[in-house]
Amino acid sequence: MNGAFLNKLAGILPADALLSAPEDCAPYASDWTRTEGVAEYVALPRNTAQVSAVLAACNEFGVGVVPSGGRTGLAGGAVVGKSQLALNLSRLNQLGDVSQLARTVRVGAGAITQAVHAHCENAGLTWPIDLASKGSCQIGGNLATNAGGLRVIRYGMARKWVTALEVVTSTGKVLELNADLEKNNTGYDLLQLVVGSEGTLAVITQATLKLVPLAPDLGKAVCLFALKDLGGLPYLFEASRKGPFEILAFEFFSQPCLEAVRTKLNRQSRLSKEGNYYVLLELAGDKPREGWFESVLAHPGLVDAFLAESSEDRRQVWGLREGITESVALTGRVRKHDLSVPVAKVADFLADAEAAALDFSAQMKLYYFGHFGDGSPHINLVAPVGVTAPEFDRACDRYEERLFPLLQKYRGSISSEHGVGLLKKKWLSYSRSPEELHVFRSIKTALDPKWILNPGKVFDR
Ligand code: MLT
Ligand code: ZN
Repeated sequence: MNGAFLNKLAGILPADALLSAPEDCAPYASDWTRTEGVAEYVALPRNTAQVSAVLAACNEFGVGVVPSGGRTGLAGGAVVGKSQLALNLSRLNQLGDVSQLARTVRVGAGAITQAVHAHCENAGLTWPIDLASKGSCQIGGNLATNAGGLRVIRYGMARKWVTALEVVTSTGKVLELNADLEKNNTGYDLLQLVVGSEGTLAVITQATLKLVPLAPDLGKAVCLFALKDLGGLPYLFEASRKGPFEILAFEFFSQPCLEAVRTKLNRQSRLSKEGNYYVLLELAGDKPREGWFESVLAHPGLVDAFLAESSEDRRQVWGLREGITESVALTGRVRKHDLSVPVAKVADFLADAEAAALDFSAQMKLYYFGHFGDGSPHINLVAPVGVTAPEFDRACDRYEERLFPLLQKYRGSISSEHGVGLLKKKWLSYSRSPEELHVFRSIKTALDPKWILNPGKVFDR
């Protein structure tokens, strides 16, 4: 890296806020995808003024900057390339007062999502974005990737739950976007443009989050259903939508996922019969639901069900769903896809995606899980024991050449929630037209004329 640039950085940041020892920098080079990165220098600013000065310096010297937080991303969005500066926002972790009147809280980009939940809980409120990575992911990253999570069916994505952002542009200008207004009809919505832009348009430094009352425990239950086949999924979803309760989550997973959670994490299901697919239905409400359960269970596609009403049982059932990412990763080499198709088509799409994988069944196994109720199935491709990394990668590449055209036929999206980052970039044209990508590039150039912000992520120049 240019000596004059490093001298400038050293003048902006105190010594403990600029890492350069390889062992200190290494953890900041990549994210949960473990894609290889090379962080030679890591800036750890404490406040917005430092972020602004660092970005102005990067812009002056044309140095690429990779913003990051908890680095729990699953698309390689925080992976650092050669001669790029890692800009980690973890130290901007302030938690402001909760406003009961406005039902908002102002937090720093580096605030850990679970810490925000705990902070707001004291006021009987919560930020309703619930992610399996909540113990390490940060608000800045949640917003920069427009995170989804486990209760999108009830609350929607992260972008719905923010009323103001403080961001720093590539030239170091600090912008306050939307100033906490609930209604603001004055031209382009720059806040929403930054949300989901994966650090390519501006760096988020603070956010005002919208809060909701903690979900009442009244009648709250989690039900685990075992299903014979994919066809049972749309049936159960439609029946649940007609049920005498509010759906808080409608998640699904396949038998190999359950097997992985059992063997790798030693968690048990409490069902007495096995299915090929499972649904976790979380519901709330005080209307009697016994009649509903009886009628639903009479369907021949439903094999078994377990109703968890105590908090310990609910936690156990959720533990199966929340343990999938970790246990699949422990099973073998994984290639992850978080796809999106119209909710009415998820089961058909998954059946076609399974048929398309038959030729490769010796080199890769399919693990299906995810957010059925949001039309957001995850397909994880996993290497069976004995298959080498090159064999697995080749099979995945060839399978993806079938999967993405199929997805396009279903008018789906290559990423429902993890983002495009580095890993999905090559597939972006399956979800975005050349005309849209042209607009993307024009917006990028307008906000980041030297293209220094998260270079090489989402799309290329
Ligand atoms: C999930 O739904 O559990 C997350 O998106 C993480 C993953 O896909 O592994
Ligand atoms: Zn997910």
